[in-house]
Amino acid sequence: MIGNGWELKMSKINLYNIDCMEFMKDKPDDYYDGAFTSPPYNANLKVSGGRYTTKTSWKNFDNGANKYENYTDNLSMDKYYEWQNSVIFEMLRICKGNIFYNIQILGGNKTAIFRIFGRYADVIKDVIIWDKINTLPSICLGALNADYEMVIIFNKNSGMKRSFDNYNFKRGEESNIIRVDRNRKSNNQHRASMPVKFCEKVLSLSLKKGNTIIDPFGGLMTTAIAGHNLKLNVDLCELDEDYFKAGKDRLDKHQQQLTFNF
Ligand SMILES: C[S@@+](CC[C@H](N)C(=O)[O-])C[C@H]1O[C@@H](n2cnc3c(N)ncnc32)[C@H](O)[C@@H]1O
Repeated sequence: MIGNGWELKMSKINLYNIDCMEFMKDKPDDYYDGAFTSPPYNANLKVSGGRYTTKTSWKNFDNGANKYENYTDNLSMDKYYEWQNSVIFEMLRICKGNIFYNIQILGGNKTAIFRIFGRYADVIKDVIIWDKINTLPSICLGALNADYEMVIIFNKNSGMKRSFDNYNFKRGEESNIIRVDRNRKSNNQHRASMPVKFCEKVLSLSLKKGNTIIDPFGGLMTTAIAGHNLKLNVDLCELDEDYFKAGKDRLDKHQQQLTFNF
């Protein structure tokens, strides 16, 4: 018991209320073993009448389309591409292992994401499909229901091959489709947060206890909770002060609960 309690404290989680680009620029090359992140999806850039448009009253959306309190999530396609391109470029510089980049293809990011596939073709190892199981029907006529999200796996050292350099599974044991219920009800503080179980599953494929990872877009700090459960060291950035505080509270509660249970 005491041994487990002690081991638990070995996981070092650092939360930073900062712009991730600001944070990453000071990190040396190859500092992290890997990364897991889910960036803003640019969900409020819409296509209407063959052109890009956006809702002006983005704060008042009540249909789940606006996932953020203080962030418009509606960059132009070029700006979104440039931003995500620089985030991925920087992550590749500071990470020596797998970067798990979770994204859902939407009208507001589709062109940028497909450009990213082209730009980084040589360092994209594979794509994991997250089957979200219980999803809502599409709000657009003629659009397929969005039942999956992707995790693009970048690796600058071995992107050429699909196999991982470090892995925790036997041959034939793991699929590149992961089925975890989206469970929207689990968090009404941040509608873009992901299930801990999903994050934990992805990280556990290739990371080992004591490894150090980064999540540049922390949100409610799901990666911190998953990392803590797996005894990883995690640095997380979150720009929004309210999400940062809510994420920090969530992590504190999780850590206290575990300490209590031990
Ligand atoms: C999709 S959410 C992440 C959700 C997170 N994975 C979770 O499960 O809670 C993206 C987060 O990135 C944050 N964000 C946006 N721009 C940022 C920036 N430049 N630096 C750091 N965080 C940023 C947003 O406030 C939002 O909370």
